[in-house]
Amino acid sequence: MKKYQLMAPGPTPVPSQALLAMAQPMIHHRTPEYEALFTEVRAGLKKLFQTQSDIVPFACSGTGAMEAAAVNTLSASDTVAVVRAGKFGERWVEICKAYGINVVELAAPFGHTVPAERVAEALKKTPAIKAVLTQHSESSTGVLHDVRAYAAVTRASEALLIVDAVSSLGIADLQMDAWGVDVVICGSQKGLMLPPGLGFCALSGRAWARSSS
Ligand SMILES: Cc1ncc(COP(=O)(O)O)c(C=O)c1O
Repeated sequence: MKKYQLMAPGPTPVPSQALLAMAQPMIHHRTPEYEALFTEVRAGLKKLFQTQSDIVPFACSGTGAMEAAAVNTLSASDTVAVVRAGKFGERWVEICKAYGINVVELAAPFGHTVPAERVAEALKKTPAIKAVLTQHSESSTGVLHDVRAYAAVTRASEALLIVDAVSSLGIADLQMDAWGVDVVICGSQKGLMLPPGLGFCALSGRAWARSSS
């Protein structure tokens, strides 16, 4: 059911049940019917993100959700550490720099990961680091970063852990609450097997507090 135009790690094929559901007549967005559907979807998203926190949906692609995560928890002149080991790690760097956020790059060659010890060292060396940003799956290389170990390290500090799980959510285990991850973002077109165009962002209590400070 997929028309192959570009051999990228997504959009993944959309199952026929989803295609047929999208062919149903539109539901008015101000009706109790829509409200019930939206409530059901948001409850389902909590299971997917393995969190008790509310999930914020956005009408944007995964990159828009990355940007929303950064701008709502960070401010210009803040300092962050970014795990950069592929194209999407580079994207975190670009987004942060575009907003005047100082970046400590924790770089590794493409095809490799950054050990949690390096994240711990960076936090120790630069206590001003407000957040650690990483991918879960760095789609450009297929490497899975050890988010659980990163969370253990960031939890011992004031820094938030912000995870881009666009290509891993629903595919590789990511226990947001149990591991202590602060922000998880996702897009609709990979593990969720939907068309692109929806972004999602889940925030821990620490992240919500940061967003209002
Ligand atoms: C890990 C990761 N982050 C971000 C993105 C960007 O998502 P989008 O193309 O929906 O903006 C992708 C897309 O492939 C991705 O794999």
